[in-house]
Formats: sequence, structure tokens, C-alpha cells
Amino acid sequence: MTANEKNANGEHTGQVVVITGGASGLGARFAELFAKRGAHIVIGDIAEEAAHKLSASLGGTSIKCDVTKSNDVDALAQHAVSHFGKIDVFINNAGIAPIPNEERFATAVANQMLRLESNVAATTPLNVITDMTDDEWDHMLKVHLYGTFYGCRAAARYMTPQRSGSIINISSVLGLRPTALAPHYSTAKAAIIALTKSQSQELAPLGVRVNAVCPGYIDTPLLAPMNELMKVAIVSQIGVGRLGTDDEIAEMVSFIASRKASYCTGEIFSVTGGYSG
Ligand SMILES: NC(=O)c1ccc[n+]([C@@H]2O[C@H](COP(=O)([O-])OP(=O)(O)OC[C@H]3O[C@@H](n4cnc5c(N)ncnc54)[C@H](O)[C@@H]3O)[C@@H](O)[C@H]2O)c1
Repeated sequence: MTANEKNANGEHTGQVVVITGGASGLGARFAELFAKRGAHIVIGDIAEEAAHKLSASLGGTSIKCDVTKSNDVDALAQHAVSHFGKIDVFINNAGIAPIPNEERFATAVANQMLRLESNVAATTPLNVITDMTDDEWDHMLKVHLYGTFYGCRAAARYMTPQRSGSIINISSVLGLRPTALAPHYSTAKAAIIALTKSQSQELAPLGVRVNAVCPGYIDTPLLAPMNELMKVAIVSQIGVGRLGTDDEIAEMVSFIASRKASYCTGEIFSVTGGYSG
């Protein structure tokens, strides 16, 4: 155990922490870290079994929750309150990856080489927007933006009367630096930043803080569909020369949820290892 971890143990004692998408990757790591530091964990995920297994191992609870359905998200908040009496931290984390397209990625890399040769005229159209279906667009926005809105609203309904709470929205570096290869994901993540800032203004006087975290590229199952070439190309744009770890994001989320961050609201915290893509 590092000195930091030792000092932080107990940091979240008694807090009730709700995590959407907590069955895997970042959300699962948040659950483990907050539990280790004394919190009661409530997970909502479409992966019902994995969520149950993890939450039970941490002494917490879980419920099947599809964040694209507002009723499910309301039920998740209600579940937390009926189990533990309150909600202190609500982490809107559930997410899906844009489906990587190897051919298109190779075209983008080839186009970049042509750009370096000042030969923009010879680049090949990527056709990302023109090929995108209504369903692809809708589903990406539903999971990320609508899911986050439903979570923010459900959390605020409990936090406002108690005059305390911390809502943490997991955006992405692509919300700050949109990529042509994933306009739906980039747009959803950018909108989450606007929602965070907007809601923080309404809730700050009521004792509720709302912040967002923008992870860079983090080694979780979300990146599994990427091939090695894609990962190498991405890592070449990361200052520290590697993907991030789930711990590196969890520590930031833990800080934001703690008393140490009492003056932080409406803030956007990037954790990208110096990504410059
Ligand atoms: N891994 C990265 O590089 C990275 C970078 C930036 C942002 N993020 C964001 O971090 C968050 C977590 O991603 P991760 O890397 O841990 O991915 P992950 O695939 O490991 O975990 C995502 C979790 O969300 C759940 N989920 C998916 N759709 C859902 C829905 N409709 N309702 C409820 N749960 C649902 C999944 O079942 C899974 O448990 C996402 O919002 C993602 O966009 C990840």
C-alpha cells in the first residue's frame, strides 16, 4: 500500500456512492476504491450479474439499470436511498465505445501522411457522418448524454433537499478535442461538459457540487475492440508514452468526491497523460 493510499483510507467513510456502469472498467475501479475508503456502494448497470457480484463483494448493492431509460435511473437512485438512506456521490459513468473501423482508421492515417506532405487534395474522404445511421447517432447520445442527464436529475432530487452532494460526470478527452472518427461520441461527451457547467451553477448555492472528468485513453475493456495499430497510433500522441490506468482516473474521482475538493464545482478535470491528438 502506498503512503497516499494509507492516508486516504477512511476518506469516504459513511458516504453513499452511486455508480452507473460500475460493473466493469473505470466504474468497477471506482467502486473498489470508494469501498476501500469507507463508502457504501450502489451500482447500476445493464450487466446485472457482474454488477451484483462486485457490489456484493464490497458489501454494497446493485440493480439492473439501463441508463437510456429514465425510469431505470430513477429506480437506481431510489434503490440507493431505500438501502442506505441518502446519496452523497452520484457518478454518471456508464458508456459505450464507438465501433472502430479498421479501414477508415487506415485511411485517416494515410490522410495524415498526405497532410504532412502538404498534399491535402489527395486525401480520401472518411465519410463518417454520411455513413452514420440514425440509430447509431441516437444510441450514442442516449447512453452518454441522456444517461448523464437522467443521473444528474435523479441525484439532484435527493441532494438538493439534503443540501449536500457531489455529482461526477465522466466525459472524455474527446469532449474537449473532438475526433472526426467519432462525431457522435465526441458530441455526446462535449455536451456532458456543458450540462455539468450549467447544472453546477444551479446547484452550487444549494450545497451540491457538479464536476466532470475527462479521461484520456485508459486501459479498460472499452478499448478492447481497437487493433494494435490503432493503439500504437494513439499512444504515439500521449505525452507520457502509455495508456492510463483505471487507478489514475479513480484517484481523481475520489479527490473530487472528497472534502478536499469543497471549492471545486463546475470544473472539468482532464487526466490524459499529456494527450495531444
Ligand atoms: N477507457 C477509456 O479510454 C475512456 C476514455 C474516456 C472516457 N471514458 C468513459 O469512461 C466511462 C467508463 O468506460 P470504461 O472504459 O470503464 O468502459 P467499460 O466498457 O469497461 O465499462 C462500461 C460499463 O458501462 C456499462 N454500460 C454500457 N451501456 C450501459 C447502459 N445503457 N446502461 C447502464 N450501463 C451501461 C457496461 O455494462 C460496463 O459495465 C464511459 O463513459 C467512457 O466513455 C473511457
